[in-house]
Amino acid sequence: MYYPSSPAVLLASIANLAILGNASPLEKRYTSPTAPFDGCLWQVSKVGAFNSHLNVSDWKTLPSSLKATDRTGGPARVKWDPSLVGVDANDGSLTLTVPGGQGTCTDDKPCGSAQITTAYDDVMYGSMRTVMKTPNVWGTVSAAFFYSDDNNEADIEMQTGDVTHAHWTNQDWYGSNGLTNSSVVANTSAAYHEYRLDWVPGRTDYYVDGKLLQTYTKFVPRTSGFWMWNSWTNNGSWTLGPPSKDAVMHVKSIDVYFNRTSIAGCGSA
Ligand SMILES: *[C@@H]1O[C@H](CO)[C@@H](O)[C@H](O)[C@H]1NC(C)=O
Ligand SMILES: *[C@@H]1O[C@H](CO)[C@@H](O)[C@H](O)[C@H]1NC(C)=O
Ligand SMILES: *[C@@H]1O[C@H](CO)[C@@H](O)[C@H](O)[C@H]1NC(C)=O
Ligand SMILES: *[C@@H]1O[C@H](CO)[C@@H](O)[C@H](O)[C@H]1NC(C)=O
Ligand SMILES: *[C@@H]1O[C@H](CO)[C@@H](O)[C@H](O)[C@H]1NC(C)=O
Repeated sequence: MYYPSSPAVLLASIANLAILGNASPLEKRYTSPTAPFDGCLWQVSKVGAFNSHLNVSDWKTLPSSLKATDRTGGPARVKWDPSLVGVDANDGSLTLTVPGGQGTCTDDKPCGSAQITTAYDDVMYGSMRTVMKTPNVWGTVSAAFFYSDDNNEADIEMQTGDVTHAHWTNQDWYGSNGLTNSSVVANTSAAYHEYRLDWVPGRTDYYVDGKLLQTYTKFVPRTSGFWMWNSWTNNGSWTLGPPSKDAVMHVKSIDVYFNRTSIAGCGSA
């Protein structure tokens, strides 16, 4: 993580102060109930039992269980830059910034974007909850998702050019015709909301603020991977970017119950 001396982060927090001035009265949010630890597993009601729990809401330092991505690619013409991961001085949230004015995103000059992932790649099933707020700037995508490979991936995504829809996708096991749908939701940039994905064998359930909006029983990921959170752009038809000004995604909290394949049997509280 990179803190206040980054010009991008400074700009981001200045821009954010103005946004928060308007948005804070709207900040009513639902948070899923916490799950009890029974001495062996975390018991998530109506979902399942899990051996691991990640619960982060203090972003002063990135915990060792999470790391900022530092590489080019994933989506074409994207460069994941850890210096674009920061903290909002005003509300303490994690910021994932796509700087404005990057010009055209090309293979030679990919566009700066920000991503964090779990530090481990052996996540298999879980209940992931993230309280976040998207930028209100055309030209980026904000996402919270599970990723193993392009054929084992389950996504919650918001296009910041269209802040009243959330998109749900289970990527195709064999090709690129995943199951995808969207729901009308409250303006994702105006206030914090809880986005939740429950992934168990044969089923993914997608929620916003505790309301179940989509269930899929097909193309449910079947290999282990990472939980990921990102804010990104390129010149493609999905992001509609790059953005003209800084686009800052805010993550207030991450609370995930999940299994790790490297842990046999019980987890620890
Ligand atoms: C998660 O962290 C928050 C903030 O530190 C705390 O209030 C809450 O009790 C924690 N939840 C669990 C289940 O540990
Ligand atoms: C897609 O979402 C709409 C509501 O937004 C719902 O009515 C419809 O049943 C969903 N389609 C599928 C195939 O899940
Ligand atoms: C969403 O909220 C932002 C911030 O309050 C506001 O500027 C924008 O106009 C809203 N967009 C829509 C489509 O309601
Ligand atoms: C984005 O840029 C690439 C490489 O410069 C180009 O091949 C592609 O057609 C562009 N895509 C869009 C949607 O503009
Ligand atoms: C997670 O692993 C535990 C054993 O460690 C198992 O009892 C539980 O059923 C697994 N959860 C899911 C959803 O598969």
